[in-house]
Amino acid sequence: MSNKTAKITIENQSAELSIYPATLGESVIDVKPLQKLDHLTFDPGFFVTAACESKITYIDGDKGVLLYRGYPIEQLSEQCDYMDVSYLLLYGELPDTSQKNNFLQKIQAVRALDVSLAKMIAAFPQDAHPMGVLLSIIGALSTCYPTLSISKKEDREKATIELIAKIPTIAAYTYRHAIQKPFIPPKKNLGFAENFLYMLFGDDEKKASNPILIQAMDHIFTLQADHEQNASTSTVRMAGSTGTNAFAAIAAGIAALWGPAHGGANEACLNMLKEIGSPDRIPEYLEKAKDKNNSFRLMGFGHRVYKNYDPRATLMQKTCHAVLEATNTKQETLFQLALQLEKIALQDPYFIDRKLYPNVDFYSGVTLNAIGIPSNLFTVIFALSRTVGWLSHWLEMMDDPHHALYRPRQWYTGPTKRDVNN
Ligand code: CMC
Repeated sequence: MSNKTAKITIENQSAELSIYPATLGESVIDVKPLQKLDHLTFDPGFFVTAACESKITYIDGDKGVLLYRGYPIEQLSEQCDYMDVSYLLLYGELPDTSQKNNFLQKIQAVRALDVSLAKMIAAFPQDAHPMGVLLSIIGALSTCYPTLSISKKEDREKATIELIAKIPTIAAYTYRHAIQKPFIPPKKNLGFAENFLYMLFGDDEKKASNPILIQAMDHIFTLQADHEQNASTSTVRMAGSTGTNAFAAIAAGIAALWGPAHGGANEACLNMLKEIGSPDRIPEYLEKAKDKNNSFRLMGFGHRVYKNYDPRATLMQKTCHAVLEATNTKQETLFQLALQLEKIALQDPYFIDRKLYPNVDFYSGVTLNAIGIPSNLFTVIFALSRTVGWLSHWLEMMDDPHHALYRPRQWYTGPTKRDVNN
């Protein structure tokens, strides 16, 4: 806490607003005293609103910095794996060997999906969008734990482990159903990323156990594990603030992630690259993106917080190189096209002036595509990676005895009071 305050005066009434310093980044102004001046703050899109206090993830958008619990994403993606990072996000510290083994074993023990849920996946039309399937099955999963209570710490922990363990199985079964192949049940002894690739491609030994692909998958999970108060995380917090269960809160987060301005951008970006097709068409698409009368945007470019290169995009590009090398597709057209598009856009005054740089989704689609994952599964993989981030925020909120119901107000500009008889 600090003694700094801000004063706001409206006509002849004033309110003193406390300013609280952050350990990193912007301080916040506590605007609650504005209530007594009969005014509300107005910030649609939450450009300058800190919706909560959090100790999990920090982004410096101007410098292109991303820290999970204080550790730079570059160090975590090079020296740790997704299990380390998940433990770190959930519990605040990196695990030692026995803590990590214990955590992984808890996940391995509950990976298998209830037969009734597997049957539900199989009942969807073959061309159902995998995000729709994931959303439904997570809602359905809530029915398997009728006795879990959000007010008990051990029950919150159980829901957390169940969700982290089962989302990969649901994602993989959704894919297997879409390609009309039998489900491959999880293997208890495999690592997190290894098991996921096994459930997707277990009948293709070369793919399922390729260490470079396993490492690439693990990197993708790590890079997408958390990103502070983005739209889906805020949705999870908002749903969670009503006292709903963890499964319902995560389903809400999945719904928010699906949109192309957020997690759906990876699928949209790959589709855009396919549509562009060849380098000579790049200028045409850049003109479309710059045209204010056209709703087209360059997918995988721009970010609400990063006004510099997204550090995850740099790391994702490296992972992409490694996958293309391992799969002998270095000259792959989409990757070459992406490099070319990035180069041309970054020299264009429109993108320079607006500080629009590639974001994580610009290279994640090309990477997943090279691994052999279909584009409509990309956002599901984002959801799978982000589940641990969403749960870390949900747990942080639930552990705070003073957390309040999220209930924004509005600037009302509708009709004044009127009478149906007039
Ligand atoms: N292509 C063309 N113009 C753009 C783009 C883009 N991708 N992104 C922003 N702009 C322009 C926008 O038209 C506006 O121009 P002007 O000032 O002339 O009106 C200016 O840049 C600021 O844009 P904004 O929409 O006010 O900024 P925002 O913070 O609300 O938008 C964004 C952030 C991510 C929604 C947006 O950049 C976008 O739509 N990008 C494409 C979708 C995408 O890649 N999303 C993934 C985000 S990263 C993954 C994740 O964390 O979810």
